[in-house]
Parts: sequence; structure tokens; C-alpha cells
Amino acid sequence: MKYKYPNLCKPIKLGNVTFRNRMFSAPMGGTDITADCCIGPKSTAFYELRARGGAGAVTVSECMVHPETDGSHAFHLNLTTPGSLSGFAYTADAIRRHGAIASVELSHSGQYAGTYLTDKGKKQGLAQYGPSAGVRPDGREVKELTKEQIDDIVAAYGDCAALAKRTGFEMVMVHGGHGWLINQFLSPYFNHRTDEYGGSLENRVRFAQEVLDSVRKAVGPGFPIEFRMSGSELFEGGYDLEEGVEIAKLLESRIDLLHVSAGTYQRGFSVTHPSMFVPHGCNVYLAEEIKKHVSVPVATLGGLNDPAMMEEIIASGKADVVEMARALLADHELPRKIMSNRDDEIVRCLRCFTCMAERPTTATRRCTVNPLIGREMDGTEVIPAAKAKKVLVAGGGPGGLKAALTAAQRGHKVVLCEMSDSLGGILKSEQAIPFKYEMYQLGQTLAHLAEKEGVEIRLNTKVTKDYVEKEEPDALIIAVGSEPIVPPIKGIDGENVIVVNNYYLEKEKTKDRVVVLGGGLAGCEAAVHLAQEGKEVSIVEMRDDVAVDANVRHRPILLTELEKNNVKLLTGYKGLEVTSEGVVCENPDGKEELVPGQTVICAVGQRSRRNFVDDLLGTAPYIAQIGDCVRPSTITTAVYQGYHAALDI
Ligand SMILES: Cc1cc2nc3c(=O)[nH]c(=O)nc-3n(C[C@H](O)[C@H](O)[C@H](O)COP(=O)(O)O)c2cc1C
Repeated sequence: MKYKYPNLCKPIKLGNVTFRNRMFSAPMGGTDITADCCIGPKSTAFYELRARGGAGAVTVSECMVHPETDGSHAFHLNLTTPGSLSGFAYTADAIRRHGAIASVELSHSGQYAGTYLTDKGKKQGLAQYGPSAGVRPDGREVKELTKEQIDDIVAAYGDCAALAKRTGFEMVMVHGGHGWLINQFLSPYFNHRTDEYGGSLENRVRFAQEVLDSVRKAVGPGFPIEFRMSGSELFEGGYDLEEGVEIAKLLESRIDLLHVSAGTYQRGFSVTHPSMFVPHGCNVYLAEEIKKHVSVPVATLGGLNDPAMMEEIIASGKADVVEMARALLADHELPRKIMSNRDDEIVRCLRCFTCMAERPTTATRRCTVNPLIGREMDGTEVIPAAKAKKVLVAGGGPGGLKAALTAAQRGHKVVLCEMSDSLGGILKSEQAIPFKYEMYQLGQTLAHLAEKEGVEIRLNTKVTKDYVEKEEPDALIIAVGSEPIVPPIKGIDGENVIVVNNYYLEKEKTKDRVVVLGGGLAGCEAAVHLAQEGKEVSIVEMRDDVAVDANVRHRPILLTELEKNNVKLLTGYKGLEVTSEGVVCENPDGKEELVPGQTVICAVGQRSRRNFVDDLLGTAPYIAQIGDCVRPSTITTAVYQGYHAALDI
């Protein structure tokens, strides 16, 4: 077969193990963790999905090696913990039966032990240890590890690696990056020791070398060891790329794959997990530089989801392997699609951070564009319907498109009607904001997939009661969405006002000084974009904070972007009137104040199109209402409800 992306599809041999391609699933924590730190069946299913999707390797994360001094991370391999070995064995098995190589990440969080524990009570009971004593930014005291403790931890890495091998894992990843314990030893910022583990680079690398020697001794020759490091810590006082190169050189003889990531969890979250505000592949330069100085194969990652970009990375010799985390949540079949030249079918990650935000919020996993994530065991995969039915979908936004696609995949005859002249619904408005382009693209991809699957699309077609009665569908899915709220204030219909949803149509009208009326997620993101375009931007928000509807991971990054781009935040300000001079507001002191601007972007929220919905109720034997027309919500909700409405037919 002639592959469109031959380098991504090329097998690679690491140690004695051959991987079927160069697309690896980077470590992502599962969420089904038992009270005694074992992998529960839901986590097993979480990892299995990516193996089924065709990844070359799937890495289970993060196995704590030394619970006596750690506690931040999920699993704990321990012969004495009932269920620990079986959970790992079932997981390795579930990955391997689909042809992927099962790997497990061995980790210790060092001074950051407990930071991410959802069980805060447990966190209080923990003591934190690092290479050096100190006080963490959250005020917790850090104790210096003694030589005996270091020896104990080094031995524990080996013990866990041996157990991992015994339970069926065929590779281990030692986590030496992102600010955790091994990284803390490597770092001049964290490591102030005066013994053989501190000071010179050779000394700071010693702990990592001892860990790798211990692991090698445990797993034997030929068993691949992947070492995850940050190519640079990317903060003042941390090690830089030049030192990253030297670290790599001092470790390469002990490993089979050098995995070059970036930054630290604590000081550069949005670089370690590149946010929508930075370019895709923004960390590849680190792997590329390190690769010039080592002979061991190198892996790279960070915001990768474009097959052409990933192919070029390998073809041009910047790295030997590409790894993906979020892109394989968004589309677990991405590697399969690439291996069968169906890259046009890939549903791309939006980098919205729903995946990472759900864990601290609800202790689950979820993905905006992939309804299976976190629900892998619920029996909700697409299966052919027993009887093909006629399905009418009203509305061509993300929810309607997902419903139509899913119903067609099940073998139903599907007609999708869209009132306007194009598909994508509310996502169409994202095309003018470069960092949200993938949201626009999601609408286009779902439309493409729906058409490919045989959905009949009828544009400029409003679904009314009469229309449904004429069509006589067996099932009607109402996905007519929402419309922007335009507050009834004087001047809001002026030439200088653009409703945020129409910005893509009217952007040329935008002058240099802009007032964004409404500081929710949509308003804040529009403000960042406009400021990036060189405009002077103020946000007027009635509440006492902005972006309160953004998720807990995206919000801090968005706030940083607002600050970085000098967006003026006026909270507690109520818009009273729009004039040619700007927006007259009631300020927090109850006084009238003009917030000056030549253009006003109205972004005060959405309202469900209930009148459309109510007209359609009672017109078909099966009716589902989904997405914004039920209640203005998120793309996540629309896609999820669209998918399930189609499964229920
Ligand atoms: C949901 C999620 C969970 C993650 N959990 C871990 C983890 O447990 N251990 C780890 O080393 N990295 C973890 N990461 C980081 C990823 O391995 C990866 O380094 C990062 O997301 C950048 O890759 P991406 O841009 O392809 O997502 C996680 C990332 C995500 C999105």
C-alpha cells in the first residue's frame, strides 16, 4: 500500500521491540483509580480505546513508584496491594490485544506531591520531599531527601519496572520532566544540594542515571526504556536548552527513546500542554536541537494534530517518533485514519482543555469532540440499527451534524435541514479568530463526514411543523441552536455595533478602539483576538469577574492572554447606551461613565430558539431536542447530546 504519510506509518524498533508506526499515545491519566491506587476497569477501557485506534504505543500514566514519599499521582504498582497487579495486567493486555505496545510511566512528584490530589484531606496528610529543603509556593514545607531515601526511591523505580514487565508491559517510560522529582534534581532552580547529587550538571544528572540503571537492571537488555524530559524548563532560573542537550547526552546510553517535552506543570502549564494561543508543534524545536547531539531515537510532542506537519517532522529528521495526548482523545482513530489514507476524516483537537478541566472538577475525563471519552465502558459505541429508519435533523450546527453523522453511520436514511445557506451553525463565527479556527474546522469536518456517510443536506430550508408532517420521518432531532442576545439599550442597533457571532462577516468594519460589551468566554476571546490585531480593547462586564464560564484550565490562560495583550477589564460596569463615542455605563460607584471606543462588539450571551422548538413538538414518533436550543451551553454538550440522540433511535 502506498501511504500518504509514509514516515508516520513506518515501524520503528526500540530495543528488541518493533512498534507498528511512529504515532505514540502520550501519557494521560485515567480517572478510575481505586482507593488503594489500582487501575480500575474504566481506566483500562480508556487506554484500550487508543490502542484500538491504531497508536504504535499507549502509555499508561502515572504510576507512583514510592508512596512513602509521594502521593500526587494515580496508580501504584505494589505486590502487596490487592488488585494492583491484576489491574495492570488487564490494562497491558487490553492495549496489546490491538497490536499497540503497552508502556507505563513511572513517576515521582517530589516536592509537588499532593498538588493535584482531588482528595484534599489526603493531601494534608502528606509530607513533601524534594532534592532540597524549602517552602512551596502554596506555603507547604518541603523536606530534603536523605541519601537513604534517595537509594530507596531509586530501588523502587526498579521494583516497579520489574512488576510492570511481569504484568505484560513491553516498555516503561521514566518521567524525568514537567517539574516532577527527577526534573527537580536536574534543575538548578530546585536542586541546591552540596553532595554528589547537586551542584555540577554531572551531579544533578546522577539521580536520573541511578534511576535508569535501576530500571535497566530490573527489565534487562532489549526491553525499551523511554525517558521523558523537558528539553528546557523554560523559566528564569531553570535549565535551558543548552543544558537540556547536555542532560540528554549524559543519559542517552541508558535509554532507547528520548522523549523531549517542554517546561514544567507548575510554571508553564500552557507551554507543556500548548494552549490554543500558541502554534501547533511549538515545542518541536527542543527535540530537533537535542536530536542533533544524540544518537538515540528522539520523540517530540506538543499540540500536534496535523498529519502533514507530523510527517514533515519525521521526514526532515527533527524527531523519529511523534507523540500525541489530546489529539488522540479528540480522535482515537487518528493513527488508523492516517494508516489508511483517510486523514480527511480526522476530527481535530480544539485545545479547549475540557479534558484536563474535567478531572479537577468532576474527577472524570471528557472530550468536547469525542463523546466516548470517559464513557468507554458505557456501551455507547456506534452500532448498526436493527431497522433503518428515516431521520430528519433540524439544524446544521455541531450538535445537528454529529446527530446526522451518527444516525447515518448506524444505517438510517438521514436528511439534515439547515435554515441558512451553510453548515456549521455557531462555529462559523470562529473562522475569523485564528486561535479558534479549529472550532470552525470542527463544523466543516462534521459536515464532510456526514456527507460522506450519505446524509442528504438541504440548505436554506427551515423545518416547520408542516415540513415535518410532509416528510413523515420516524425520528426528528431538533438542533436549531440559539441566537445572540442583544440587550435593549439605546444605540445597540448602530452602525458601530457588531454582534460577536457576525464578527466574521463584518470584521472589516472594526476600528482601532474597541469596546467589548460582555466579558464572558466569547467576549474575552474576541477581545484577545482584537488586541492581537493591534486594537485598543476594553471589556465592559456587569459581573465582578470575567470569563466565569471558561473551564478551570482554559480560564487562567485566557486571563493571562488578556493581560499580556493589554485588554482593559471593567468589571461591575453596566452598559446603558451605545453612542458614537463608546458605551455609556453605570460604573461600580453608581455613576455614569463613558467607556470610549469607535466599535462595540456585543457579546452578552445566547438565547435558545425555543419558539422554533415548540412548533415542532409532537410532529414525529421519536423527537429529541439537543444542544443550545434546550439551554445555551457548550460545544461539548451539543456534540454529546447529538451523538446520543442518534444512538437512541
Ligand atoms: C488529559 C491529560 C492528562 C495528562 N496526564 C498526564 C500524566 O498523567 N502524565 C504525564 O506525564 N503527562 C500527562 N499529560 C501531558 C501529556 O502527556 C502531554 O505531554 C501534553 O498534553 C502535551 O501533548 P498534547 O499537546 O499532544 O496534548 C496529560 C495530558 C492530558 C491532555
